[in-house]
Amino acid sequence: MSAYALELRNLSKHFGVTRALDNASLRVCHGSVHGLVGENGAGKSTLIKVLAGIHRPDAGSLWVEGQSYSHFNPRQIARLGIQFIHQERLLPASFTVGEALFFGQELHRGPFVQRRAQQREAERLLAEHFGLWLPSGALIGELSSAEQQVVQITRALISQPRVLVFDEPSVALVQREVEQLLGIVKRLREQGLAIIYISHYLQEIEQVCDRVTVLRNGQDVAEVDPQQTSMAEITRLMVNREVAEMYPKPLVTLGDPLLEVKALSRLPAYRNVDLQVRRGEIVGLTGLVGSGAKALLKSLFGLAPAHQGEICLNGQALKLDSAHQAVREGIALLPEERRRQGVALDLTVQENITLASLLRVTRLGLISADSERRRTEALVTDLAIKAAGPQAAVRQLSGGNQQKVALAKWLSRQSTVYLLDEPSVGIDIGAKVEIYRLIGKLVEQGAGVLLLSSDLPELLGLCDRIYVMHRGAIVAVRAAADLDADSLLALASATYEQKDIRHAR
Ligand SMILES: Nc1ncnc2c1ncn2[C@@H]1O[C@H](COP(=O)(O)OP(=O)(O)OP(=O)(O)O)[C@@H](O)[C@H]1O
Ligand SMILES: [Mg+2]
Repeated sequence: MSAYALELRNLSKHFGVTRALDNASLRVCHGSVHGLVGENGAGKSTLIKVLAGIHRPDAGSLWVEGQSYSHFNPRQIARLGIQFIHQERLLPASFTVGEALFFGQELHRGPFVQRRAQQREAERLLAEHFGLWLPSGALIGELSSAEQQVVQITRALISQPRVLVFDEPSVALVQREVEQLLGIVKRLREQGLAIIYISHYLQEIEQVCDRVTVLRNGQDVAEVDPQQTSMAEITRLMVNREVAEMYPKPLVTLGDPLLEVKALSRLPAYRNVDLQVRRGEIVGLTGLVGSGAKALLKSLFGLAPAHQGEICLNGQALKLDSAHQAVREGIALLPEERRRQGVALDLTVQENITLASLLRVTRLGLISADSERRRTEALVTDLAIKAAGPQAAVRQLSGGNQQKVALAKWLSRQSTVYLLDEPSVGIDIGAKVEIYRLIGKLVEQGAGVLLLSSDLPELLGLCDRIYVMHRGAIVAVRAAADLDADSLLALASATYEQKDIRHAR
């Protein structure tokens, strides 16, 4: 038996002029968790897709158990026991949970698919691995991101793989679910699996990985032991420069209330919510899955309108019943599901960024193509959006870079209030700081920001005040300065129960 469960040797892969992989190597031992980190566009997903047989490498070889292959096809991969949890959620929305879990790996008796047995098995697996009950007849499209992720992981476990690859598995999960996920990863390692774990959350890497490979511009620039190497050092290897202060927060004098929410209710999602965002203020909003915070944010953008209560902007009561209207009033929403809702995949980077601002420009009757282009270029540079050029289709960008485009789109348009739903999810640490700096700029210019986030250090580092929701109600509002991560988590999870995950909307 080879010392390595898996070896990728000197892989290269280019797309047009982009060198996604440049002589990159990776070795993964049996019974270990191997982290893979790097900036957005460093080549992590490309490496994984070569391993998955989705891309054929230009050069290099793949070694499994001492056997070499120049590339894989899907059947070989399955036979070798390699399974993937890809960055993009790939389950069809019209499948039931049971179908999604067993698609392509159905339980058969003779020529017949054993639907009932499959359903029972699906429910058992979900309960065993996640302590979670999901009706196997529920449609994938009706599930929250977290639930879909859970289904995807469970699906990979059904075939009892020897190598398991996670490409940013924690992105859709909240803190407690991340802990569960890491627990599962550790259990699988004990069972002897070799695991590749990609994440932008270095705390997770530190908690769970035995080795870490750092990719930069398609090259493996270092392999380190995360127990012996500081996270600052790993970050420096990733970005090849020192990262400035993580949460650059400008000192802004707060003005009058911009956004006032009074006794707002939309049952059963949330009830009787009072909330204020002042001019120049960054207000945090957090809660576990099912707390109602997401639904509240949607209502504030005219989606899923509230049934009762009042929303005032600049002292004027608004009747918000469409997103179009919210945009017209000067409210911007950065949705969490950016790939699905935030960007137009087939348009170019430039088209995506100018789309939102064009509405404003044409409304005022002024079209200054030049200044729009300059603004686009400035944002592309500020956010370090890695693309072949402003004319590249957004579909071709790496996951994190697609998210940056979605953010740039809203930043290019001046709004009064910005509703940001998990703005830094999936974004590398260097670009995160840039996003935080841009958020700071928004409030310096007199906007108000409502930041929905489950990243506690981010909330504590950026916000003036933080609202905590639980089961549809605001249970606390505190100055960020009076909180730390533990107290914030305690507030959010006081009486949290597992079964609440079913309300994740
Ligand atoms: N199908 C494709 N066509 C053209 N270019 C591509 C394609 N897939 C990836 N690229 C380019 O290859 C580079 C590496 O992308 P990759 O998706 O591997 O990055 P990543 O490290 O996974 O980043 P992220 O953290 O954002 O997910 C990027 O510059 C990306 O634009
Ligand atoms: Mg990726």
